[in-house]
Amino acid sequence: MQERKPRKGDLVELDIERLGPKGHGRGRFGEFTFDVRGAVPGSRVRAAVFRRRKNRVDAVIDELLAPSPVACAPRCAHFASCGGCAFQNLEYAAQLEHLAQALGETLAPAEIPDVAPIVACAQPWNYRNKMDFTFGNKRWIEADEPPDAPNGFAVGLHVAGRFDKILDVRSCEIAFVEANAILASVRELAVAAGLSAWDVREHRGLLRHLVLRKGFATGEIMADLVTTEEAPDAIEPLVARLLERHPGLTTVVQHTNDGVALVAGGVETVRHGSGVIHEELAGLSFRISAASFFQTNTAQAEELVRIVREEALVVPGARVFDLYCGSGLFSLALAKQGARVTGFELVPSAIDDARLNAGRNGIDAVRFVAGDLVETLAAETETPDVCVVDPPRPGVHPRVLAMLTALAPERIVYVSCNPKSAVEDLIVLRAGGYRVERARPVDLFPHTPHLECVFTLTRATATASGGSSMAGPSVES
Ligand SMILES: C[S@@+](CC[C@H](N)C(=O)[O-])C[C@H]1O[C@@H](n2cnc3c(N)ncnc32)[C@H](O)[C@@H]1O
Repeated sequence: MQERKPRKGDLVELDIERLGPKGHGRGRFGEFTFDVRGAVPGSRVRAAVFRRRKNRVDAVIDELLAPSPVACAPRCAHFASCGGCAFQNLEYAAQLEHLAQALGETLAPAEIPDVAPIVACAQPWNYRNKMDFTFGNKRWIEADEPPDAPNGFAVGLHVAGRFDKILDVRSCEIAFVEANAILASVRELAVAAGLSAWDVREHRGLLRHLVLRKGFATGEIMADLVTTEEAPDAIEPLVARLLERHPGLTTVVQHTNDGVALVAGGVETVRHGSGVIHEELAGLSFRISAASFFQTNTAQAEELVRIVREEALVVPGARVFDLYCGSGLFSLALAKQGARVTGFELVPSAIDDARLNAGRNGIDAVRFVAGDLVETLAAETETPDVCVVDPPRPGVHPRVLAMLTALAPERIVYVSCNPKSAVEDLIVLRAGGYRVERARPVDLFPHTPHLECVFTLTRATATASGGSSMAGPSVES
C-alpha cells in the first residue's frame, strides 16, 4: 500500500502482535493500529480493510501468510459467523496470556500495585449454565452453505454486528451439554407446528427467546419461552412434546412480552414443574427463578466467592452491605462466615429468591432491600464495615458511588465483569479516599474477551489494624 491513509478494500500485510480489547488480532502498520477479525497473535496476515476511524483500522483476514504457533482449530462449527467466542482459535494458555496483557493495559490508569494472575477455568468447554437464544425470521446464511439455503425461521444467537440476522445455532461449545439438544427440539417442533418467529423490523411473530438454564450440582434444567402473546393453543402442545423428548427438563416457564426491545422478560406463566431450578455453590443451596441473575459459570463462581471471602476479611458481627446482590450469592456466603449482611437488588424476583435462599440455608443475619440502589442506599441508616459491590456492565451509578464514599466502609470489594467501567469507578473511589490494593482476575468466560475481576480497596484513613469489627483473620465456615 502506498503512503496514504488506509481505505476500505485496501490490502495490508502485517504481523499480529497481540489481542485488542474485543478479541481481534492487533498489529501495526505505520501510524495505524489494525484490529484484524479472526487473526491470532504470532501470525502474519494480509488484511483487507473495511473501516477506518482516525488511526484505528478494522480489517478481516484476506490471506494467512504465516500461521501462529499458538493457533488452534476452533471447535465450534459457527466460529466464522458467531463472534461470541472470538478466541476459540487460540490455545487456552495463550488466551490467558493475552487477556492478562489486555487487562494490564485497561487497569493502568488505576495504578493498582498488585494484579494477580488470572484464575484459569479447569473446564473451559460447556461451562455456561445459562443460554439466551433468540428467534428470528431472517436466518443468517453461513459461508459454507449454498446461497439458496433457507433464510427464514431461525433460533440461535445474533450474528456479530447484525441486529436482524440470527445464526441458527446447531451446536454451541460453551453452553451446558443438554442445551444443544433442547434447542434443536424447540426449533424442529416450532417449525413443524408452523409457529412464527419474531420479525425485528415489522414487530410481529410469536416466538422471541428461548432461555435455557441448568443447576450443575442438581441437574435441574429450565426452559423459558419468551413470546409476544400467551397463545396457549400453540405453546401447550409444544411444551408437551418437548417434555416427551427431554424428560430431564424439570421446569418450563413462559414469559409474555410484546414490547419492541430485544430483551427477555415479561409476565410469567409456569407451564411445567416448579418454575425454578436450584444450584449448589460455596456450601450453599440457591433457588434461581427465570428472571433472576445468577453467575453463568458455576465452577468459576465458586472461585469468585472464595476470592470475595478472602478479600472481604469479615469477622463475626462485621456489618456488610452487598450492593447489586442478585439472588444473594455473596450476601449468603459472607453471612455464613458470621457477618451481618444487607443485600440491595433491583429485580423483585431476585430479592424473593435471595430471601428464600437465606431460609433454605438457615441464615438469619441477612436482610434484603428491594429497589433501585439510587433510592434504597439513600434511605439506609446503618453504616457498613465492608461493602461488596457487583454492578452490571456499565458500572456503578455516579450517585451510588458518591453515597458509597460517604458511607466510608473500611473495605470495598468491587466485583466487575467489565474492567473498563470498573477502572473509571476505581478512580472516583480513589479520589474519595480509597486505596486500590489489589486486582484478582477470574476467567469466568473462556474463549471470549470478557474477564471477571475482583478489586480490593481500603479506606486510606483507616487505622493499620482496621476497625474493631474488622481486625483478625477471616473466619472459614
Ligand atoms: C452482575 S449482577 C450481580 C449479582 C450478584 N452479585 C451475583 O453474583 O449473583 C448485577 C445485579 O445488579 C442488579 N441491578 C442492576 N441495576 C440495579 C440498580 N439500579 N439497583 C439495584 N440493583 C441493580 C441486577 O438486577 C443484577 O442482579
